[in-house]
Amino acid sequence: MTDTRSATSRLAGVLPDAERVVAEHFLVQIERLKAERNAVVLAHNYMTPDIYHGAADFTGDSLALAYQAARTDADVIVMGGVHFMAETAKIVSPEKTVLIPDTEAGCSLAESITGPDVRLLKDRYPGVPVVTYVNTSAAVKAESDICCTSSNALQVVDSLAEDRVIFLPDRYLGRWVASQTDKQLILWEGSCEVHERFTGTELRDYRASRPGLQIIAHPECPSDVLEEADYVGSTAGMIDWVEANKPASVVLVTECSMSDNVAVEHPEVEFVRPCNLCPHMQRISLAGILESLRTMRHEVTVDPAVADGARASVERMLAVGRRPVPA
Ligand code: 13P
Ligand code: SF4
Repeated sequence: MTDTRSATSRLAGVLPDAERVVAEHFLVQIERLKAERNAVVLAHNYMTPDIYHGAADFTGDSLALAYQAARTDADVIVMGGVHFMAETAKIVSPEKTVLIPDTEAGCSLAESITGPDVRLLKDRYPGVPVVTYVNTSAAVKAESDICCTSSNALQVVDSLAEDRVIFLPDRYLGRWVASQTDKQLILWEGSCEVHERFTGTELRDYRASRPGLQIIAHPECPSDVLEEADYVGSTAGMIDWVEANKPASVVLVTECSMSDNVAVEHPEVEFVRPCNLCPHMQRISLAGILESLRTMRHEVTVDPAVADGARASVERMLAVGRRPVPA
């Protein structure tokens, strides 16, 4: 989604006055440099509200962000997100300069597996197709047959002719898919360090204390959490669900900055906010985005041959049916 209001006016009602003054100090400079560099700023749904509502030209999940940026004539993309997301933006827009404000913004899922690991799996299970979640490095995508997102993983697995599928790297998303398909899934032991901290017991306690509470969860959560959920979906799916259902009270079982962002747009909904923050996402700040634009650092590059392989895996997924961005 894009917002044409000035960056500073977008923060009215989003931050307390004292914080807004500080944020505006950065935003004025960010806007000036965006124009000078012909740059766009992307913000994943887990960015803090100052970035999500203030600095971003586009917000969304990683795939939507990459395709939104590709549609623009910007020369520079600044990724408000983690490293694999910046790589995905580069894969989709090889001609653009992609910057990440902090090179340490990684991901426990993406770091759980390497390209050579995928090659070993393919040697061990010859002829078994490899489905890879987009939360992985370009090298891992390039070794895979097809990518998936958290919203289309089941559809992608079911689209394959084979009865057995290697599903990488999130064991919880894999188990969630396995519970709904007839195919046999060979899983990898990767996990998201943020979502795996939630427990079913914690959610039952929330429900008991608040009659009518709706629980919506990301499929990177453990199985006992997903069993408690009224809806399971990607970050974009969760936002759509809140918009469509406008519950009186809801808990978004995911990285907690997302509740802060969505709450701004839904003052009528009460958000119960257990706070599990992603330490990698939290490395991105307005100051870091400004510094990126000022210094043109840190550029994210992907070897062209790897990018071609990764893009092919993403495009095979899109052919199965996922529209990365609204038409
Ligand atoms: P989606 O935004 O694709 O649902 O992914 C969630 C996530 O954990 C991103 O790091
Ligand atoms: Fe990775 Fe989890 Fe952080 Fe997303 S929330 S970037 S999957 S560690």
